[in-house]
Amino acid sequence: MTMEKVQNIALSPGGSAVRILDQTRLPGEVVYITLRDREAMYEAVKALRVRGAPAIGIFAGYCVYVLARSYGEAEFFARLDEDCDYLISCRPTAVNLARQVERMRTLARGMEKKPVPEIVEALGREARAIHEEDAAMCRAIAEAGLGLLHEGDTVLTHCNAGPLATSEYGTGLGPLLLAAERGMDIRAYVDETRPLLQGARLTAWELQNAGVDCTLICDNMAALAMKQGRIQAVLAGCDRMAANGDAANKIGTSGAAIIAKHYGVPVYILLPSSTIDLACPTGADIPIEVRDGEEIRSLWYEKPMAPAGVKCWNPAFDVTDHELIAAVVTEKGVVRPPYDVNLRKLFG
Ligand code: MRU
Repeated sequence: MTMEKVQNIALSPGGSAVRILDQTRLPGEVVYITLRDREAMYEAVKALRVRGAPAIGIFAGYCVYVLARSYGEAEFFARLDEDCDYLISCRPTAVNLARQVERMRTLARGMEKKPVPEIVEALGREARAIHEEDAAMCRAIAEAGLGLLHEGDTVLTHCNAGPLATSEYGTGLGPLLLAAERGMDIRAYVDETRPLLQGARLTAWELQNAGVDCTLICDNMAALAMKQGRIQAVLAGCDRMAANGDAANKIGTSGAAIIAKHYGVPVYILLPSSTIDLACPTGADIPIEVRDGEEIRSLWYEKPMAPAGVKCWNPAFDVTDHELIAAVVTEKGVVRPPYDVNLRKLFG
């Protein structure tokens, strides 16, 4: 399967539902599901059927539109507020979810005097605009990120920051996909990414499909790979970047960055501006999602891998301190430290 054939998020014909590729079924099965009601939409995000910061923002935009189509005139804004708050409450770390839902809500609120069909139509246009803007940003990020790499390099990836997590090229995987398109030799070690294996299940699948030379490793093998000089850069996506450049991403990213610093390997965080949260001063202000311990005890394995009932702590994200980040790659180009000054200059 080529990456063009995979459409992770789309509005159903007629616009009465959102269709997603169920990422929990990958890499074994390519299954699309159609979501019409808000409970199913919430569950899809919670269960990571649709996941990745930009992707859940795009998805939520379409959800707001689909849900708004069923509101009556009198109840329109009350139900809009209720559904927006409900969708936002699903996952806390990626700022894209709340940001895109608020973008939809603000648009509708700004049209309060207009007839409801007109507002709904505008919401549909806005949801599509969010999706198209993300695709354009991803292309620009891929281009800028590729500029930091050299023919023959091998990079380390963590989690999945490819087209599945965004649109088209993705962020962290964008330079690799672009390099493959251009016939360049840039390879990847893929962290499996415990506990939910987004690296093994999704990144390896996307890179293989795109013809990128990739090698799967367990997360705790990255230090050896760097010590042996096998890795020239770490490429990671981001769920929320604070104003000082601290970057929340999948749990394990900060560990990889600390090891990379030790071995002198540059860490590049690739993200669209929709992931930068200048209202969050530092990483300490970013809410970290803590998920069900069952994901560590037994999920994704044929049989439970830990004693029944063992206490688990399952934070889904961590924050990479800005001191560990060599550069931040955005759709407006490469940003270097000091991030507190340079991010604001570009996006303030
Ligand atoms: O829990 P997930 O799978 O949604 O976590 C996703 C990540 O951590 C990604 O790296 C991040 O959202 C960037 S995606 C371009």
